[in-house]
Amino acid sequence: MKDKDPQKIWGGRFAARTSSLVEEFTQSLDYDRFLALHDLEGSRAHALMLADTGIISPEELQRILSGLDQIQGELEQNEFNWDPGLEDVHMNIEKRLTDLIGEPGQKLHTGRSRNDQVALDFRLYVAGALERWQSELKELISILLNQAEAHRKTLLPGYTHLQPAQPVCLAQHLLAYVQMFKRDYERIEQAMPRTRVSPLGAAALAGTTYCLQPEQTAGHLGFEEVFKNSMDAVSDRDFVLEGLFVASMIMMHLSRLGEEIILWSNPGFGFIILPDAYSTGSSIMPQKKNPDVAELVRGKAGGVYGRLMALLTTMKALPLTYNRDMQEDKEPFIEACKSVSSCLRVMTGMMGEMEFNKDKMMQALKKGFLNATELADYLVFKGTPFRQAHHLTGRLVAYAEEKGLGLEELDLTVFQDFSRLIDRDVYGVLDYQQAVNRRSTPGGTGPDSVLGQIKDLRLWLDKKNGGSV
Ligand code: ARG
Repeated sequence: MKDKDPQKIWGGRFAARTSSLVEEFTQSLDYDRFLALHDLEGSRAHALMLADTGIISPEELQRILSGLDQIQGELEQNEFNWDPGLEDVHMNIEKRLTDLIGEPGQKLHTGRSRNDQVALDFRLYVAGALERWQSELKELISILLNQAEAHRKTLLPGYTHLQPAQPVCLAQHLLAYVQMFKRDYERIEQAMPRTRVSPLGAAALAGTTYCLQPEQTAGHLGFEEVFKNSMDAVSDRDFVLEGLFVASMIMMHLSRLGEEIILWSNPGFGFIILPDAYSTGSSIMPQKKNPDVAELVRGKAGGVYGRLMALLTTMKALPLTYNRDMQEDKEPFIEACKSVSSCLRVMTGMMGEMEFNKDKMMQALKKGFLNATELADYLVFKGTPFRQAHHLTGRLVAYAEEKGLGLEELDLTVFQDFSRLIDRDVYGVLDYQQAVNRRSTPGGTGPDSVLGQIKDLRLWLDKKNGGSV
C-alpha cells in the first residue's frame, strides 16, 4: 500500500492526509527554529554515544557528523530550507540529514524520541540565555559601581513612603541596586546546575531497550548531570519556569530603577539630567524630554511576569509525561529573553551616561528638613528625654518652615528660645554631610561603610570576570 502522506516521518499508520489547518495549527517552527543549533549539538552527542556503544558503525557516525556540519553551515548562511509541513525543528533537520546522507541519517533517531530531544534542546537554549544574562548583569553592575564611586560625597534625601526621610549619599542608593543585581546573578548560578541536566536516553518516556549510555551522551555535551527518572526527564519544565522567574526578578529590579529615573527626571525632583541619547521628545510639546526608555523597561516587566504565569498555568494540570501543551513553552521564554537582554543593555547604557544634579539634591535636603532627626538626637544627647526632644524639634521645624528657612539657617538665639540646651555646636550636627558621616554602622550610608561596600563588590566582580583574586 502506498503512503497517502509520504512526507510525514510518522506517516506509516495514516491513511489520509493531515488537514492543512492542522498542519498550520500544530507546527512549532515559529519558535523552535531558534533551537536548531542546539538540536545539532544534541544529535552529535547522541550519535557519538551510538557509535561508542556499537549501535552505529564508525563510518555511519562520520557520515552523520559531516551531514550535521553541512546543515549547520546552511543554517548559519540562512540557506536552510524550512518546511512547515514537517512540523518542527527536529523533523526538518532529520529530513534534511536523510536527504543528504541517506540511510545513516535514518539511524540517528535510534533510542531517541522527540520528547527527550526537545527537552535537551531547550535546556541548552535556556542555559545559553542564563549565561548571557549573567554577563549583561555584570556590565550593569560595573557601570553602577563606577557611578557609586564617583558619587560617594553626593547627598540626596533618602525616602520612606516616598516622603523625604534622612540624608544618604547617592553611592549608597546606587549600591542598593547593585545588591539586587548581584542576587539575580547568584540566582542564575544556582539555577544553572538544575538546567544543565541531560535528558537524552529517556526516549519517549520509559527509557529504551537499546544499550544506550546516557552518561556518555551527557559527557559529549559537557553536562555534569544526567536524568534520574525517564518520565520526569521528558515532562520536566521546571528549568524554563525557573528561568522565567529569574527573568521576572531581574525585570522587577530594573523596573524599580526605571521608576526612580522617571521620578528623578521630573522637574519636581530634578535630580538627574537624562542623557539625550536615552530620551525622546514630544511631537507637539517642544519643551519635553521624556524618560521613555525607563518607562518601557517598567512596562516590559509586566509582559515578562505574564509569561511566567502563562507557563505555570500551562503546566499545572498536565499528567505525566509529555503532552503537546508543552510545545507552548518556547514562545514565553524566547520572548521574555528578548525583553530581559534588551532592558539590561539599555539600562546599562543609560546609567553610564546619567548625570546627577547635586544642587537640586541639596535643595531637596533643605526643603525636606532632613536634618530634623539629627536635632532631636542632639537634644537627647544633651539630656532632653526623647519624646520632649521629638516635640521640640517638631516645633522648630514648623517655625523654620513658616520663615522659609532650613533648620541650619536659624539663628542661635532662635534655637535658644526653644531650648537653653542648644549651643553653637548644633550647626555641626545639622550639617548634612555630618549626618551622613555619623551613620557609620555596618552597611549604613557612612563613608567607611560605602567605601567597604564598593571594595567588596569590585572584588566579587573581578572574581566573576575570571580575575585572580
Ligand atoms: N514540537 C514539539 C515540542 O516543542 C516537539 C516534541 C514533539 N513530541 C511529540 N511527541 N509530538 O514540544
